[in-house]
Amino acid sequence: MKIYVSRDMASVALGADAVAQAFADAGCEVIRTGSRGLFSIEPLVEVETAQGRIGYGPVGPGDVAAVLDGSHANRLGPVDQHPFFAGQQRFTFARCGVIDPVSLTEYAAQDGWKGLEAARAMTPQAVVDAVKASGLRGRGGAGFPTGIKWQTVLDAPAGDKYIVCNADEGDSGTFADRMLMEGDPYCLIEGMAIAAHAVGARHGYIYIRSEYPFAIATMRLAIDHAAHLIAPFTLEVREGAGAYVCGEETALLDSIEGKRGQVRAKPPLPALKGLFGQPTVINNVLSLAAVPFILAEGAEAYAAVGFGRSRGTMPVQLAGNVRHGGLYEIGFGITLGELVNDVGGGTASGRPVRAVQVGGPLGAYFPPSMFHLPFDYEAFAAAGGLIGHAGITVFDDSVDMAHMARFAMEFCAAESCGKCTPCRIGSTRGVEIVDRIMAARPSISRRHPDESQDPESRNARLDDAALDADFRQHDGKGGYLGKALYSRAPSRIDTSLDAQTTLLRDLCDTMKYGSLCALGGFTPYPVLSALDYFPEDFGAPAPLKEAAE
Ligand code: NAI
Ligand code: SF4
Repeated sequence: MKIYVSRDMASVALGADAVAQAFADAGCEVIRTGSRGLFSIEPLVEVETAQGRIGYGPVGPGDVAAVLDGSHANRLGPVDQHPFFAGQQRFTFARCGVIDPVSLTEYAAQDGWKGLEAARAMTPQAVVDAVKASGLRGRGGAGFPTGIKWQTVLDAPAGDKYIVCNADEGDSGTFADRMLMEGDPYCLIEGMAIAAHAVGARHGYIYIRSEYPFAIATMRLAIDHAAHLIAPFTLEVREGAGAYVCGEETALLDSIEGKRGQVRAKPPLPALKGLFGQPTVINNVLSLAAVPFILAEGAEAYAAVGFGRSRGTMPVQLAGNVRHGGLYEIGFGITLGELVNDVGGGTASGRPVRAVQVGGPLGAYFPPSMFHLPFDYEAFAAAGGLIGHAGITVFDDSVDMAHMARFAMEFCAAESCGKCTPCRIGSTRGVEIVDRIMAARPSISRRHPDESQDPESRNARLDDAALDADFRQHDGKGGYLGKALYSRAPSRIDTSLDAQTTLLRDLCDTMKYGSLCALGGFTPYPVLSALDYFPEDFGAPAPLKEAAE
């Protein structure tokens, strides 16, 4: 009997290896796949039958007999008819969880290489035109039109050109890049080979974060297997070293070049002067993996789905305190509320949803009153947020939003590359200001469990003498950097809630407009949205609507 069990890193963390071994020990033919993407039913076992694959999940190693005789309580029926999967539009993730990820035969049998074949029958310009016509925009977060980026590289004077895949998926709550690389690596390889044909590149790099050992191993194996199919284009994997900022494209290029990953000023754009100073296409995993579908099925088929200027599908990742966490690929335009409540099933704790953060640690927090927002680049930007890499992290009503604002600043301080002052110093000042607000606000019922015990989170412990010295050193030199950067001297500042909140907003303004890259520039999104939508956690009156509820 044929049994399918995922070998995705998340499934393995939930016990999939032991389950697979138990079925193998029982004499079954076990095929390891990627994950289908619904982690609440992992480890998922799929049994091949005349009626299709019947799913059981979650199951443990002791459940073999009950699965094989069909009596297991967690019998899910035909997997592709499960509501979580049946509602999706899987353009990019169609094979993920279905095939053996490194089987060339299975990939080819499921329309693999059709896109590359079509591209090779076209001129480079026609391929670029098709990508433009599809409306595909950068799925890493910025949403820049992929076809226009490729056009810039195609038009650049000939020489060594490179294709670089950004697989440094650093956003908390996101895992789509990892799932694709572990579950359908040839799709990414095919997308990169199409990009190489389109712009005239001979070599490519996939930069994968070191925290993804399964993805690194799978991609290396797949590159070996597929080398003859993508030749003369060649590919190699480069491993990151754990810095979030290396997900920023120019820091990533520095890292590949063997330097410390630090952000470069733009211009010049990487499209004109990128890796080793040469014209470079640098795209996220999901952008490149969307391309085989576009070339195989036609740009119109891709563009037919979507909303406004956001065309095609987005693999949305639901995480945090959510009942049905996982990957849900769907056309743009679905509302935030549909994603959180209908697809995600609300919170795992069963308590009311209070906030969702969209777009990773640099994304804004939205309350349920914003759940009408359509998932669309422009709609989120207009609402003071971003969809980023499409990670949605859900929080219930026990979350303390001042603590989350503090976390944003703390994250930025830890991950800052240090090149520019608003980010390097501003983030540390931001932590201190939020600490003062938390110390001064009236007691609230929502408290982060660590907060009251954590002496480090209290302004009171700050060494006044050291701070005064620091202030004197910088006094009068703040200038364009804003007052907030030099606000540490407690003897000279107004520690009232109003003053500190104003200072925090001023600091956010400085970081937003004065930072060199998105890390410092976007950290204000979570902070300001927490202040705007959840003022009561900062000691201000609750918004009228919530107060009335
Ligand atoms: P950006 O807007 O500066 O650039 C977007 C892309 O378009 C870049 O590749 C840039 O080189 C290219 N580009 C811009 N103008 C061009 C032109 N005229 N011709 C050719 N190419 C052009 O945005 P950036 O700083 O690269 O990315 C910021 C985004 O990254 C944020 O929106 C954030 O959501 C996202 N992000 C994603 C993370 C993840 O883990 N996926 C982590 C952190 C941030
Ligand atoms: Fe480095 Fe932060 Fe400046 Fe970006 S914003 S260049 S991470 S210091």
